[in-house]
Amino acid sequence: MEHLIDQIKAHLAEVEAFQSTDAAEIESFRIQFLGKKGILTDLFAAFKDVPNDQKKAFGQQINALKMAATAKLEESKQGTGPKNKSTTTTDFSRPGQPIEVGALHPISILRNQVIDIFSRIGFTLSAGPEIEDDWHNFTALNLPEHHPARDMQDTFFVQTNPDILLRTHTSSVQVRHMEANTPPMRTLSPGRVFRNEDISARSHCVFHQVEGLYIDKNVSFADLKQTLLYFTKSLFGKSKIRLRPSYFPFTEPSAEVDIYWGLETEADYRITKGTGWLEVMGCGMIDPNVLKNCNIDPEEYSGYAFGMGLERMAMLLYGIEDIRMFYENDLRFLKQFSSAD
Ligand code: DAH
Repeated sequence: MEHLIDQIKAHLAEVEAFQSTDAAEIESFRIQFLGKKGILTDLFAAFKDVPNDQKKAFGQQINALKMAATAKLEESKQGTGPKNKSTTTTDFSRPGQPIEVGALHPISILRNQVIDIFSRIGFTLSAGPEIEDDWHNFTALNLPEHHPARDMQDTFFVQTNPDILLRTHTSSVQVRHMEANTPPMRTLSPGRVFRNEDISARSHCVFHQVEGLYIDKNVSFADLKQTLLYFTKSLFGKSKIRLRPSYFPFTEPSAEVDIYWGLETEADYRITKGTGWLEVMGCGMIDPNVLKNCNIDPEEYSGYAFGMGLERMAMLLYGIEDIRMFYENDLRFLKQFSSAD
């Protein structure tokens, strides 16, 4: 009995050491161990003569040998050719599992581009809360209580407290930035804003703006215009802009910025209403009252500010007809941006 166990162990070592990719060698291995007249058949035959109390230990040894020989046979066959379909071992020559790459949301893509363009000329980033107080959203921006221009931006109030609201524009962040810093300052504030407006193809109650602010000694309207020209060239590739006189309570003078989009296609006619011009943002020289409200001396410093809506620009750039597409999370829409940026 003892020597039989030793024999099995020796066979086991032999099985483990076996290594070949040659079909004939593998076949003779099979015959040697697993064939009708092979080693295992002999061992099973010897089994009946084993004393009963040792049958269990002996049986386990034979089974271990049989499993090892079978596994080795399978493993060796794997290596012999492409016909083998077994999935039990790793085939490093197979192509990898594709890793699906997600897509940035078009608003994020555009926001990153705008940040990138302004950071090249020294603008930092700043942020503020979406739930604002009256001071930062209105009063400090030269929009005191009962000012008629407050009606330009229908406001969501938080519960019944008229002092707490969802910011209607990112201009609130310029107030916070001016309060917390001393000039010179150059900052960009992208963020989400809220207005109590009906949802349609052209407007939504939640959208995104980017606010820009620059304050230093002797900042002029020419600086503003040149910066905006640099921006529109970089983002739209359009090098003609015009500034139309406008009104914002926080800037004086104020202007709307139009870019010359052109009239090359039918779509150009449609989106520019036949004029070739498109309004893209508001801007102006910061009103001295606003500077004073934020503890900056208007005698010493001047500055400009501008604000733009990201959805509107993304619609122009990507040819999107309906603003609601941005918020529906329809994968057929979002996947189209997977290769952009
Ligand atoms: N806050 C304005 C709006 O939401 C946009 C704007 C206009 C911002 C002129 C400015 C600016 O900083 O100077 O309609």
